[in-house]
Order: sequence, then C-alpha cells, then structure tokens
Amino acid sequence: MTEAELTPAEFWERRYGEADRMWSGKVNTALAAVVADLAPGRSLDLGCGEGGDVLWLAEHGWQATGIDLSQTAVARGRAEALSRGVEATFIAADLGDWIENPRAIDGSEAPFDLVTASFLQSPAHLPRPEALRAAAARVAPGGRLVLVSHGAPPSWAAGEQSGHSGTGHQHHGPGYFPTPEAELADLALHPEVWEVDIAELRHRAAIGPDGEAGTHYDTVVVARKR
Ligand SMILES: C[S@@+](CC[C@H](N)C(=O)[O-])C[C@H]1O[C@@H](n2cnc3c(N)ncnc32)[C@H](O)[C@@H]1O
Repeated sequence: MTEAELTPAEFWERRYGEADRMWSGKVNTALAAVVADLAPGRSLDLGCGEGGDVLWLAEHGWQATGIDLSQTAVARGRAEALSRGVEATFIAADLGDWIENPRAIDGSEAPFDLVTASFLQSPAHLPRPEALRAAAARVAPGGRLVLVSHGAPPSWAAGEQSGHSGTGHQHHGPGYFPTPEAELADLALHPEVWEVDIAELRHRAAIGPDGEAGTHYDTVVVARKR
C-alpha cells in the first residue's frame, strides 16, 4: 500500500514502526524555554508523539497529559514514564475526535493551565486549524497556549520543498510550514480574552543528514488567557 492510500492512523503507525524510537525523547528546546518560569499546574500536549515534552513537564512538577494518534508512540511514552519513574498520562486518540468532544477524550472536566502542541504537522490529513482552536478553548483563565512548529524546511532542505504558510491552503502535507502570522490567523484569538506574548520565528542550530552544520526554523507562539 502506498502512503497516499493509508489512513492518518495507519500512516503514523507505519512511521513509528520504522524504528524503535523516532524522536530524541528530550523536551523541545523552545517549549522548555517558554515554560521554564511558569508555576506548574495541569498540562495537555496535543500530538505528543513518544512524549518527550510530556515527560519533561511531568519531571518539572506538571500534572501532564499527552494525546497522540499512534498507539505505538503512546505505548513508548508510557514505557518511558515507567522507566524514569514519573507519573504522566498518555491517551491514544485522534484529535479529529477530540475536537468534537474534548472532555470525554482528555479525561478532564476542568480546563488546563497549559496546552501545548509541538510540531503538530502531518503529511497525512489533520484538521489542524480546528485542533488549534479547540486547544485554545481548553486553556483555563490565566493559562498559556504554547505552539512550536517547523516554520520552514531545515537549511539543508531549502529548495527541495516548496513550503507554504498562508491561509487558504490545506493545513497538512509535507510542505506545510506555518509562519507566526499563519498560526495567529488560524487561532483567531479574541484580543479581549488573549494576550499574545510571543509570535516569532526562532533559529536553532542543527546538524544535517550529512553531518553539516545547519539551522532549524521554529515558529513559536505563546498566548496567555486573561
Ligand atoms: C511531527 S510529530 C511530533 C511529535 C511530538 N510532538 C514531538 O515534538 O516530538 C507529529 C505527531 O502528531 C501526531 N498526529 C498526527 N495526526 C494526529 C491526529 N489526527 N490526532 C492525534 N495525533 C496526531 C502523530 O502521530 C505524531 O506523533
């Protein structure tokens, strides 16, 4: 079966099945930087993958929950939590279903002090703008929404992919790289309810596939609910 014929769940199961571990297991740098000074509370991470961010949050005092489509990724997050001796909740679910009925899936009547989504970008179909708006709706008054996304292809892949970022395109696929402005347009945060603290493209040093020095471009959006 070609990738185009797979459902999103099948696509990500196949992806995670290609290696014993897909991501580093470490927290995403931009997330750690913006969350480090916050008082811990209840957190929810969307598209948590193998749980690097969820586990870091749990290790830093947060009551942390992560949701991901892939059973394999979620199982790895749970296993890693056990081996590190931290308490964290991992839920295998489709964000498309969560959007319809978030409380039933994320297991909480109350909203969260922190809702995060790191690199919630998918070559397979993903109702991303709807998920981001539902994420904002799950933030408690005084809480934060933190989005970290690939804002452009890494420097070594520049030119290989024609990234697009504006509204009016589909919000998934291998070439979807949202700018800070595109994230804010999708979120449509009401200015009387939200204060946008950060909306910027950050550069991050990285090593390319052939060992060359390169750069990742992270779109970082941090918004605080009044
Ligand atoms: C690029 S990975 C990022 C993983 C993780 N946040 C990280 O930073 O390492 C995108 C993740 O989104 C998940 N995902 C894609 N579509 C989803 C959906 N409809 N519902 C839930 N998770 C989804 C994938 O399974 C994958 O783990």
